[in-house]
Amino acid sequence: MKTTEYRFSYEVYDAIDELAPEDALLLRRALQMTQNAWAPYSRFRVGAAARMQNGEIVTGANQENAAYPAGLCAESVLLSTAGATWPGLPIDTLAVSYEGDNIPNDHPISPCGICRQRLQEFETRTQHPIRLILGGSTGKIYIIPDANLLMPLAFTANELP
Ligand code: THU
Repeated sequence: MKTTEYRFSYEVYDAIDELAPEDALLLRRALQMTQNAWAPYSRFRVGAAARMQNGEIVTGANQENAAYPAGLCAESVLLSTAGATWPGLPIDTLAVSYEGDNIPNDHPISPCGICRQRLQEFETRTQHPIRLILGGSTGKIYIIPDANLLMPLAFTANELP
């Protein structure tokens, strides 16, 4: 028996003005996109904005449903839009932000498990890493160089015939 270890590195910034201008722009756009969320059930609005390899910006916001499991995360909406609009075109960087009723948005949130799986599939499809920027309206900001780092031992298409 041997024990192996999984580690990854990511950048932590204290404030948005420490980011490169194009990264700050994307995170601000993600925060703006929370206004397009439909989240009457959780009252937790998530926005996402990504820069495609061709420089186009694509956005998403969570879209909930009275039948709760039918709701879609912001990242999921964004990935579907990107894949359907520019099939096969890689995403360079994807920013996620949020705001909610009566809660502070002062720290980063991270994609849910299903969105990590979808990010992984998008990376495989486009053969390109997706860099993530995660942050609220204040507080620390994380930059993760490759979304796959959040999905160790992922189930991927490589298993399938
Ligand atoms: N949500 C997202 O849109 N993205 C995330 O990364 C985490 C959660 C949404 C799903 C649901 O509409 C609400 O936030 C509360 O879970």
